[in-house]
Amino acid sequence: MLAHSITPDPVYDFAAEVRAGLTRFGQKELPSKYLYDAVGSSLFEVISVLPEYGLTRADERLLRRHAFDIVDRLPGNIVVAELGSGSGKKTRWILEAVCRRQHTSYYPIEISRSALDMCARELGDIEPMSIVGFEREYLDGLVEVAARRAENEHILVLFLGSTIGNFDRPAGVDFLRRVRRTLRAGDCLLLGTDLEKPTWQLLPAYDDPLGVTAAFNLNLLARINRELEGNFVLQNFAHEARFNPTARSVEMHLRSRKPQEVKIRRAGLSVKLREGETIWTESSHKYSAGEICQVAEQSGFHCEAQWIDEEWPFAENLLVAD
Ligand SMILES: C[S@@+](CC[C@H](N)C(=O)[O-])C[C@H]1O[C@@H](n2cnc3c(N)ncnc32)[C@H](O)[C@@H]1O
Repeated sequence: MLAHSITPDPVYDFAAEVRAGLTRFGQKELPSKYLYDAVGSSLFEVISVLPEYGLTRADERLLRRHAFDIVDRLPGNIVVAELGSGSGKKTRWILEAVCRRQHTSYYPIEISRSALDMCARELGDIEPMSIVGFEREYLDGLVEVAARRAENEHILVLFLGSTIGNFDRPAGVDFLRRVRRTLRAGDCLLLGTDLEKPTWQLLPAYDDPLGVTAAFNLNLLARINRELEGNFVLQNFAHEARFNPTARSVEMHLRSRKPQEVKIRRAGLSVKLREGETIWTESSHKYSAGEICQVAEQSGFHCEAQWIDEEWPFAENLLVAD
């Protein structure tokens, strides 16, 4: 008989990933998912309304304008799962359109507890709808949703805000394949993707003059100090956004302003940084509209429809599982 069950310890995982990332040979890295604690999720909400960050507004415009068209193309009787919902503000357009035809079960899947709370407050008034949030990693949450659906229900997965861009291209295809494996033929994925655009337009979205994105990035070090008893001095690091033309991505880094040694007690780690050395914290890959359909096909979906925002080139892609 099973006497004990082992539950994952989030602090242990965080410490292990910080240790692995900061002791890597060559470029030091920290996983971008750790940008989102309560402070990070709130700062992301501010970023999404900055004039330089056209991405959220483009995504929202497309959902607002085309929600009914999108929903008309879905099979009957669906449940909605959202990967990395954040506050869920722009999801309202889709949920209200779905609720016009049926009672809807909505499952936001988030690693950030505070984002899930924001989402429940933001969307709790939509009727007829029930919300059950999963504080989980994307695929773990999706597996739980898939296990709950009834035989006659289809799943609509939402992956908005171009969060797919946080994966490099091969990892993005791999991730979508894994999403596909949790779905049945005919289930749908609405995928928001930021499109390629000139660097003069792109870079300020990740390095705004008010310094909100800098604070968002630096908060990762502050979070390590808070949760893992680190001693990062935030003033010793500068936020940097750069375009990588080979990867076609914007990278966020934290640049060490001087030679320094940092201790992180709960990760059992002491790490040296040279002056000018960076810690890579996030990538945002940019796509062409045609490329998304190829990525869809490589992952076991086909591209049913695509809507493009011209003001801030961005695509909403409705993919159907083959
Ligand atoms: C770029 S934000 C986008 C939020 C929202 N979808 C939007 O479009 O504004 C990414 C969201 O995904 C969540 N997230 C990041 N990595 C995750 C993971 N591995 N599993 C679950 N949620 C994750 C973050 O907490 C964050 O709220």
